[in-house]
Amino acid sequence: MSGRDCLDRLAQASPAVLPSLLLCDFGNLEREVERLEEAGAAAFHLDVMDGQFVPNLTYGMPIVAALRRLTRLPLDVHLMIERPERYLREFRDSGADLLTIHVEATAEPAAVLRSIRDMGLGAGLAVNPGTPLDGVERCLEFCDLALVMSVPAGFGGQPFDRAALERVRRLRQLAGDRLLLEMDGGINDATIGDCAAAGAQLLVVGSGIFRASDYGEALRRLTSLASSGKR
Ligand code: DX5
Ligand code: ZN
Repeated sequence: MSGRDCLDRLAQASPAVLPSLLLCDFGNLEREVERLEEAGAAAFHLDVMDGQFVPNLTYGMPIVAALRRLTRLPLDVHLMIERPERYLREFRDSGADLLTIHVEATAEPAAVLRSIRDMGLGAGLAVNPGTPLDGVERCLEFCDLALVMSVPAGFGGQPFDRAALERVRRLRQLAGDRLLLEMDGGINDATIGDCAAAGAQLLVVGSGIFRASDYGEALRRLTSLASSGKR
């Protein structure tokens, strides 16, 4: 599937809840993927962290490649790494469909986004709470997706930062309907309706799914809350 097909598929599925693979059971990845597919996940959000850009270390290309072998669903790869331009080809070759870089992590985000698109992948730009939006606004023409963080990147289970809602509304106003808007961090039953109402189409959820005993029930409830919140 091309990056463009993947983006179109996700736009059609919106509002879509994307499980964030950070708090899942990596010792049973095949079973986790099966459970999440049965639960109706539209895509998987993969949290890649390098211990430099964020004070946490997770996984890289081998896990992306393992997931590629386990599922046909889109892989939405969130690169929380310094100078992501160093690894674009490797993540493409590992099976990523969307590559999202952080505006704070590279000197030339527009050039990196162009490279991602040139590889046929969906190009996403993420922004942490507190980072001024103007860096993202300057790159909008090179983005297929903007990821507005509602927690500081680095850890699951953090409290939702409501200031992210206004940032989503502002990006929708500037970019129009072309841009796929994603939110990530602290999204749960209490906050997902507001995220969808603000215009977020992809809603990344970690603890709200992985701390539930029944992934399907959690995902269905969250999707229904997002749909009723959507305006
Ligand atoms: C944080 C990650 C998020 C996080 C979401 O750096 O990008 O995807 O895992 O987890 P929750 O939903 O628990 O905030
Ligand atoms: Zn993430």
